[in-house]
Amino acid sequence: MRRHAAFLVRCLAVVALAAAAAPLQGQVRVASPNGRNQVTVEIREGRLHYSLARDGRALILPSRLGFEFQGASPLRDGLRITATTRQSHDEWWTQPWGEVARVHDHHNELAVSVEEMATPNRRFTLRLRAFDDGVGFRYEFPEQPGLGAFEITEELTEFALADNARAWWIPSNWPRKDRSEELYSSGPVSTLDSVQTPLTMETRDHRTYLVIHEANLVDYARMFLRGPRMEGRTLHAALAPMADGIKVRGRTPFVTPWRTVQLADRAIDLAPSVLGLNLNPPSAIARTDWIHPMKYVGIWWGMHINTMTWSSGPKHGATTANARRYIDFAAENGLGGVLVEGWNVGWDGDWIANRDAFSFTQAYPDYDLAAVAAYARQRGVRLIVHNETSGGIQNYERQMDSAFALYRSLGLDALKSGYVTDLTSEGHSHYSQYMVQHYRRVIETAAKYGIMVDAHEPMHDTGERRTWPNMMTREGSRGQEYNAWSGDGGNPPEHETILFFTRLLAGPMDFTPGIFDLLIERGTGRPRRPEEPRVRTTLAKQLALYVVLYSPLQMAADLPENYERQPAFQFIRDVAVDWDTTRVLDARIGDYVAVARRERGGQTWFVGAITDEESRTLDLPLSFLTPGRRYVAEIYADGPNANWLDNPLPVAITRRTVTSATRLRLVLAPGGGQAIRIRPAG
Ligand code: NOJ
Repeated sequence: MRRHAAFLVRCLAVVALAAAAAPLQGQVRVASPNGRNQVTVEIREGRLHYSLARDGRALILPSRLGFEFQGASPLRDGLRITATTRQSHDEWWTQPWGEVARVHDHHNELAVSVEEMATPNRRFTLRLRAFDDGVGFRYEFPEQPGLGAFEITEELTEFALADNARAWWIPSNWPRKDRSEELYSSGPVSTLDSVQTPLTMETRDHRTYLVIHEANLVDYARMFLRGPRMEGRTLHAALAPMADGIKVRGRTPFVTPWRTVQLADRAIDLAPSVLGLNLNPPSAIARTDWIHPMKYVGIWWGMHINTMTWSSGPKHGATTANARRYIDFAAENGLGGVLVEGWNVGWDGDWIANRDAFSFTQAYPDYDLAAVAAYARQRGVRLIVHNETSGGIQNYERQMDSAFALYRSLGLDALKSGYVTDLTSEGHSHYSQYMVQHYRRVIETAAKYGIMVDAHEPMHDTGERRTWPNMMTREGSRGQEYNAWSGDGGNPPEHETILFFTRLLAGPMDFTPGIFDLLIERGTGRPRRPEEPRVRTTLAKQLALYVVLYSPLQMAADLPENYERQPAFQFIRDVAVDWDTTRVLDARIGDYVAVARRERGGQTWFVGAITDEESRTLDLPLSFLTPGRRYVAEIYADGPNANWLDNPLPVAITRRTVTSATRLRLVLAPGGGQAIRIRPAG
């Protein structure tokens, strides 16, 4: 019922503090409700700047704001502040699903009206919101004689970091290689070239963590950051281009996405991150009771390890018989969904070259979509339909309505989409305004047909799920599949300990954990060698990832036969996918992380702890449990001598009674982890 209840439980207190003409020159400021985060806006030599301080200490030095346009002068010089208005907002709202049920939106807002002193006297408002966990600002252009239709060639927003902070980053190489599936590096901000957001940074004195990202990206280009390349410490907003080089086409009235800087004193306070959610509008979906987090299996890993194919032929994975087998497995193990890839015509040959040949309604002859859907219904399992577009956007959009109507008529309520390509068929950047609009159209059309979305090769997450809670999860980083075929051997053991503090701060990730055949022996008949692509974790770490890497659609990614007679599979059956509360217990970015989450509407907690290539012992007080209550902890730990490199499989499953006074000692193997279910005793 809780999830089904109206998602917006408001205790709203919007207080207009002042709406008055403000000083025309000088500095204007807004501080977070606790007073710690303060943004200053000022004109310096005719140019608009903002700066950010925490506890009076500068974090972002005066940084330029503005735009360059095609066919019009830049909106940058000769500016003045004409007015300011202020508001405060204090509201708790409830998510239909999430890492936490209740979210606190408490902020102070400052709107700064800015005008160009020379003709055409263009005007805009810089709206800033200061929260205790960070700040956001955006540009708003009212309708005006001097600015109607426009084409942005550059956004001039800067982030001039006061400290040469350490950053964890992935490169952005668009338009040559337009993807987010990269391994993270870390180093001082001064050395950055071109990077993606969320960009997580730690000041050199370890006092502050900053995360630059964006929120509510609706009709604009995705933002990257161009680094100083050894010259200073200033990051510049850089927008992904459309085929003709224009970044954004618009017409006033127009608002940009929010530019956000999340702030925390400790790494453990960065997650769960709600700053971006608070900067998105409330749900546009009135009834959300059809939206349901779930675990799923899929005809999927077989293609990645090459024992099955997406294309037709003797190894075709998506056959009616195979789908029935997966449905049976899901039904018998309490897993809610079954994903079937390669079911539809279009996979034969080169997908990208033939991308306009994909049909989203016509199945291969050996796959009876209607019969499989009926069988899934009969067994109480949801069929997740797969749409790989390979960037053939117009081909997809032409078919979208009829395809989604068909899926709905068959009772299919979840879609996994795919965009394996760098540029779209029209030559636009994968992350251009054109694609931002496309991804939104998919979400909105899916909502119309009652379909949940899991996007692979997605637009990065900017909090859409608040407005469109059918936007469940997405990829947008190197997931498990790289362990099957990547030329560099797969994800290194530290990968997920960085993902948690970077990609996952934007939103849920369909990482697809749960590979048990870590050496990928099946199909090839011999274990893969350490230098070959393989899963570089222990088995216990695969279990821990269900708790650490949040996703409301969470896959049990291995072949069903690899779960047979595996006692550790019980954890995957038991683990929840929707949470009331999330607490990060202990962490160091890139080294280890331990997370506790309480299931939605229940009293059972789950703990997941993972480490990089180093073994580690964590001492975790269970003070989050209800005092005076006894619980049973079911512990899935790395077994004797386990390690990712040459002994990844041993798992020790034990059980003990615990209370809120217990301190658990977790011993994690190199590349290892631990997963724990803590349920009330009796
Ligand atoms: C890449 C996706 O991440 C993967 O999950 C999918 O199987 C392939 N594309 C094919 O669509």
